[in-house]
Amino acid sequence: MKIAIIVGTRPEIIKMASVIDEIKRRGIDFVVLHSGQHYDGELSDVFFEDLELPAPDYNINVGSASHGIQTGMMLSGFEEVLVDENPDIVLVQGDTNAVLAGSIVSSKLHLAVGHVEAGLRSFDLTMPEEINRMVSDVCSAMYFAPTEDGAINLIAENIPREEIFITGNTVVDACYRNLKIAQRKGIESDYLKAIDIDNLDNILTLTMHRAETVDNKERLTNVINAFKELKEVNIIFPIHPRTKKNLENFGLFKELDELDNVHILKPIGYLDFLNLISKSDLVLTDSGGIQEEAITLDVPALTLRYNTERPETVECGGNILVGTDTNLIVDNVRKIIEDEEFANKMRNAKNPYGDGNTSVLIVDAIEEYYKKGLFNISAPDMIYESFKRKMAVITEDITVDEFEKKYNTAVHLVYDNNKMVFPYDDLNLKDLMITYDEYN
Ligand code: UD1
Ligand code: UDP
Repeated sequence: MKIAIIVGTRPEIIKMASVIDEIKRRGIDFVVLHSGQHYDGELSDVFFEDLELPAPDYNINVGSASHGIQTGMMLSGFEEVLVDENPDIVLVQGDTNAVLAGSIVSSKLHLAVGHVEAGLRSFDLTMPEEINRMVSDVCSAMYFAPTEDGAINLIAENIPREEIFITGNTVVDACYRNLKIAQRKGIESDYLKAIDIDNLDNILTLTMHRAETVDNKERLTNVINAFKELKEVNIIFPIHPRTKKNLENFGLFKELDELDNVHILKPIGYLDFLNLISKSDLVLTDSGGIQEEAITLDVPALTLRYNTERPETVECGGNILVGTDTNLIVDNVRKIIEDEEFANKMRNAKNPYGDGNTSVLIVDAIEEYYKKGLFNISAPDMIYESFKRKMAVITEDITVDEFEKKYNTAVHLVYDNNKMVFPYDDLNLKDLMITYDEYN
């Protein structure tokens, strides 16, 4: 079996690291394709070093450009490599342009696509990431959903249940494996050493880079206004190049940089970042990965967004959406810093993303699929005359698996007391409402 792994940006490298390690550990043949979307050392090479990953076998070198150009270059670049390498499965991770391009190219080459972190939905189509993850979830053959919520989103979009694997999120593997290493090594960033973060109080780690936040002058201004009020809080801000460029273009960078409580530094490596957030009282972020890392490391998170494709973090009490509303930011930061009970409740929220063995579950599922010959994607040879979508309330004492076998059908949606639930093989359907497909 040969596995191709596509990465392209900082979070993809971090979140695929444990999967690459696991593939290597099992002696499976693999190639790594880098889209080149992130090319600065501090957004790419540093993660290969920190996470001790093999250098990519290919780099498409797309660099920075519009969505159309970047995605177009990835389509042709990935196609050339994948035709040559002919892997059994192509793994993509998350929701970047590499996921969009990788999924489209691979599925049209009839190569199986495995989407790591499938099923996330913000239900906000103004986000490029929402489009990317939805397109990938049309093209994939295996879906590695971090949580049951994500799996249910996929079921609701008619993805067959046997292609969905609830695995947790590889970010937990990355955190658990690297926090100890990071703590042993200690802080390496000269800037963090210089401000002596071990002896700072009220540490807030800030990151923001999402288009909807940092391409918008008013939203950036609201956030800066909050920091003007929060004089007692030390805001440590490893700044993404997109954000720095925009703050400069909007004429806001100097104003932010001159605030005594704001410490702006270049993006830092993964080990330094883990040390930083684990020493922080809270994080304020619009990042997807950092919402997950915060709950994994028991650090309260405030999210600078109006929605999240990680609703589990909010539902379990570890994350609060504050948008870019100045007052909401100020009030919630102060609550976390000043109200120990409130902060502890957030810290003790249960991590919904698994216990750090996600990469093992993913590679187990891939090996199983390979053994069953499920990667050989070809046109169907079953002749059928009709296809009907049906609905029923089940009165029989029967599991999902038994129902499918008995009636030669595929169960899709299952409602238990009006709430959608995941159709596990052994779920008893008695008294539940289902939708199912029938081919004749
Ligand atoms: C991309 C992803 C986003 C992800 C983020 C992770 C898409 C649509 N966006 O956003 O989902 O959360 O990565 O960090 O795929 N730049 C540099 N050096 C680099 C790369 C970029 O300076 O190595 C600057 C350029 O000015 C560029 C800007 O950052 O125009 C934005 O880069 P881009 O690749 O468009 O997306 P990100 O904002 O990084
Ligand atoms: N990160 C890092 N150094 C930094 C900022 C972030 O190592 O200076 C890591 C962070 O630990 C997380 C990932 O980058 O794992 C998140 O990436 P980003 O916020 O760029 O993207 P998103 O997760 O929103 O797609």
